[in-house]
Amino acid sequence: MGSLLNPPDGFVFTGQDFAYIKDRIFALAGIRLSDQKDKMVYSRLSRRIRELGLGDFAQYCLRLEHDRDEQIQFINALTTNKTQFFREGHHFDFLAAIAEDHPAPLRIWSSACSTGEEPYSIAAQLVSLGRREDRILATDLNTQVLATAQSGLYDVNEAASIPPGILADTFLKGRGDQAGWMRPCRQVRDRVTFRQLNLIGPWPFRHKFNLIFCRNVMIYFDRPTQATLIERFYQQLEDGGFLLLGHAEGLDKHQQGFVSLGKTIYQKVAV
Ligand SMILES: C[S@@+](CC[C@H](N)C(=O)[O-])C[C@H]1O[C@@H](n2cnc3c(N)ncnc32)[C@H](O)[C@@H]1O
Repeated sequence: MGSLLNPPDGFVFTGQDFAYIKDRIFALAGIRLSDQKDKMVYSRLSRRIRELGLGDFAQYCLRLEHDRDEQIQFINALTTNKTQFFREGHHFDFLAAIAEDHPAPLRIWSSACSTGEEPYSIAAQLVSLGRREDRILATDLNTQVLATAQSGLYDVNEAASIPPGILADTFLKGRGDQAGWMRPCRQVRDRVTFRQLNLIGPWPFRHKFNLIFCRNVMIYFDRPTQATLIERFYQQLEDGGFLLLGHAEGLDKHQQGFVSLGKTIYQKVAV
């Protein structure tokens, strides 16, 4: 196969390299890259090739075969981590309504939490309602985004999507050398536990959840992977629990075990 991309000062990247990379990210993360993603793959991985001092993509593919640390960097480079505080705001209105009907502590899983905006929004919503006992488990495959999430430090410009009352009650603005940064308050941070977890790997949970957020990640998976995940979410939810998906995702209307409550919110029912 000839070169796919081979800029004069760049690295040779053949169709064979691209095919290998597509297979590898699918095996490691369940992510299906389309043929149109060649430029994205080139730009994200050439940075790694440069850092490792390698000569071309073929050498990088060889390195990936056995180097576990590089496999982590590879996943970190190829996952898409776009997120926002209070993204898809209707899910947080729904959460507030559920919390009102559910005085006992809620167990919530933010299953592709990226840099943490989603789980901190969940916690901030609940803490602003005076709740102090809910627990949020926040997981992602990408170790780099998890490190950002755990630091809890965000550019103040990210505050724009946080409802003003919740922002005032639950976020702290940095001063001095932390100016320009903000952080969720201690009560919010204490509600959230971060862990690395691959959605297509084992789930070592002792408990079931009342709500599972799985938003804007299933779009990267193929149909069989999505179907398996939905079945596993069903098993991992309490009876009557809720599954919240991203705006471009949704369950088939014939999907057994869930009823749609609208706006990509599904409730577990007995089958
Ligand atoms: C676009 S972000 C979505 C973030 C957040 N849920 C939201 O809706 O704003 C997708 C996240 O899924 C993660 N991801 C991709 N494949 C994964 C897998 N197999 N297991 C767990 N997380 C995965 C990525 O690392 C990324 O952080």
